[in-house]
Amino acid sequence: MDLRQRAALSVSFHKMTFPQELERVAWAVERRLGELLGQDRAPAGQDTTLAQAMRYAVLGGGKRIRPFLLIQSARLFGVNEDSALDAACALECVHCYSLVHDDLPAMDDDALRRGRPTVHIAFDEATAILAGDALLTLAFEILSDPRLHQDPAIRAELVLDLAKAGGWQGMALGQALDLSPERQGFNPADVATMQALKTGALFRFACEAGAVLGRADAADRAALQAYASFFGQAFQLADDLLDAQGDAEALGKAVAKDAGRGKATLVALMGVDAARAQLGVLLEEAEAALAPFGSRAETLLDTVRFAVSRTR
Ligand code: IPE
Ligand code: IPE
Ligand code: MG
Ligand code: MG
Ligand code: MG
Repeated sequence: MDLRQRAALSVSFHKMTFPQELERVAWAVERRLGELLGQDRAPAGQDTTLAQAMRYAVLGGGKRIRPFLLIQSARLFGVNEDSALDAACALECVHCYSLVHDDLPAMDDDALRRGRPTVHIAFDEATAILAGDALLTLAFEILSDPRLHQDPAIRAELVLDLAKAGGWQGMALGQALDLSPERQGFNPADVATMQALKTGALFRFACEAGAVLGRADAADRAALQAYASFFGQAFQLADDLLDAQGDAEALGKAVAKDAGRGKATLVALMGVDAARAQLGVLLEEAEAALAPFGSRAETLLDTVRFAVSRTR
């Protein structure tokens, strides 16, 4: 029996630990993404290089932290995991697309991702661009499919929210700012704004989607959005610290690249020690934002603690 089977079995006997729960959800996401990207969905069972590149980009790696947040946010409102799983997979498709494009020579020009050659290295640049494009549209196919939720108003709200989170006033804008020449003049507040877009927007979607599925009231949505904002800032700050001081093997991607590329990060502006202190402040703020949920938010508390102390 492997670790996943043991983890699945143990749920019936006792409460899972946080790492077990993370592993269990990652496995469920992997399996569902495998179905959504399966060869049987291709016309006449034909596989294509594009489909292979999409599966390569999505399957077999990643922490699946955005799907995890979506599923745990939904659970706060009693939504069952099956309903949240497809929305979580749609979000992971957008995230993986963002990574494929982020690694392109025109952007960060990275050769290693999730411990493997990046998509444009394993395939080619045109295929990587198209695989990213197709993953983005697949996300909306998944969200608008009646199998996701019987209520079309819920599906439409998810589509609208993800379109906004990923688009010209969300993640794509953040990536544009990250690459713009103006970044050289950024102060810490500018960096925070950029990171709230390039990274925070998808985390805010994760929490909002859970609230939409659970028909949460305005106060609960606001509390979750505050949590998601601090979470996003903390997550990217941890990523920037790992770039400065982390281990490439554990991370599955190259390190010490931000400084060489002149990236605007809080680590570059404040130094490692001040950035670490800021990470502690963000953790406290994220924890405080969850106070209205009391003990129901235990897993979300563990998730932000994981995000700030992670080594991968
Ligand atoms: C990497 O995200 C990109 C950032 C926003 C920092 P993750 O660290 O979640 O990457 P995977 O999905 O686990 O590979
Ligand atoms: C990426 O930020 C944010 C995205 C929206 C993809 P980074 O460029 O710092 O992410 P890594 O370090 O390549 O994973
Ligand atoms: Mg980048
Ligand atoms: Mg990058
Ligand atoms: Mg990085």
